[in-house]
Amino acid sequence: MNDASFAALLTAEGRALLDEVRGTDPARELAVATRLRRTHPAELVSAALAQARLRQRAAAKFPAADAERMFFTPNGVEQSTRTTVAEYRARRLRALGVTSVADLCCGIGGDALALARAGIRVLAVDRDPLTATVARANAEALGLDGLIEVREADVTEVDTSGYDAVFVDPARRGGRGRVFDPEAYSPPLSWALTAARGAPHAALKVAPGIPHEAVPDEAEAEWISDGGDVKEAVLWFGTEPGLVRSTLLPDGHTLRGRGLPDPPVRPLGRYLYEPDGAVVRAHLVAEVAEEVGGGLIDATIAYVTADAPLPTPYATRYEITDQLPFSVKRLKALLREREVGVLTVKKRGSAVEPEELRRKVLPKPYGRAAVTVFLTRRQGAPVMLLGHPAP
Ligand SMILES: C[S@@+](CC[C@H](N)C(=O)[O-])C[C@H]1O[C@@H](n2cnc3c(N)ncnc32)[C@H](O)[C@@H]1O
Repeated sequence: MNDASFAALLTAEGRALLDEVRGTDPARELAVATRLRRTHPAELVSAALAQARLRQRAAAKFPAADAERMFFTPNGVEQSTRTTVAEYRARRLRALGVTSVADLCCGIGGDALALARAGIRVLAVDRDPLTATVARANAEALGLDGLIEVREADVTEVDTSGYDAVFVDPARRGGRGRVFDPEAYSPPLSWALTAARGAPHAALKVAPGIPHEAVPDEAEAEWISDGGDVKEAVLWFGTEPGLVRSTLLPDGHTLRGRGLPDPPVRPLGRYLYEPDGAVVRAHLVAEVAEEVGGGLIDATIAYVTADAPLPTPYATRYEITDQLPFSVKRLKALLREREVGVLTVKKRGSAVEPEELRRKVLPKPYGRAAVTVFLTRRQGAPVMLLGHPAP
């Protein structure tokens, strides 16, 4: 998509076409395109169908009612923040008394829209001309253009004084995929940190794999998951310096770090607790172990073992029925003996490929029972723990 083809989509004819191709089944695209090309320019038809496809893809991140009205670029949909996370951050900023935010690196507006919906006035900046145009179209499409000013500019040249907070979501993709070094972000993390220090409040979105050593002392670091998948880490300024927390969406349970030492390794109990990925990334497994009265199954593995089924939102609980040294042959025999038909493979600290193992040990269902197998280590040796979810 280029600037001209996107501009054509915003004309009356373009919008009518977008309405017509909404929700087109990919299998029917060719037939639909052939029909529409009889009465509309071929390029516009292609652009509308491509936009319809992007909207369908975006529905995984945005509420369907928004996604079908919004506009996207392929990179824009890929890089945008999902609404659950953007709304959560916007609520946190609002609770800090923030009423205006400079959204530096706004992309197609995933965050800017959520901030505006929280009643915050937003200056949304992106240096890519098409991306900025799309962000502007989105603000208008959702009726939020009164609160969002979109500016096409390099964020390093924008004056953000006068805003209660800055929010930075740097580009983390280079020509060859994801960028892991925070200094290779665009703009680099060091620039974002300077911008954050100059504002009353700030939130910097970073990759969840950011090394803890890269978190400055004056920042709070929060790891966020949604539906069990870790989505991002946020460095907050103007909140609680030094605090580490993990927050689990959509419920919003938030676990605050207390600087506990690593939990002790202990004998395997009846229950295994699998901490949420945000807890693991935030290094808060000790806090969860304390909550459930447990310890680690191995000093290097983030699985907690305990005797009691205590409630915690921060981990999924399993009842363990067997503990065996890792053996494909033994596992296959056990699954057959127990008439297993559904096998869930989980692993931490094991190089085994789950799909490959499943093919070997359960080439066909042996019955209707369901089993979860954990491939992991105990005292450094590979083990398999069999069990089932114990809600
Ligand atoms: C991860 S995306 C932002 C996504 C956005 N928060 C959302 O939810 O839709 C990063 C954006 O930063 C922009 N960008 C990168 N470096 C920039 C710079 N120096 N100035 C302005 N924009 C920049 C890119 O064009 C890209 O659109």
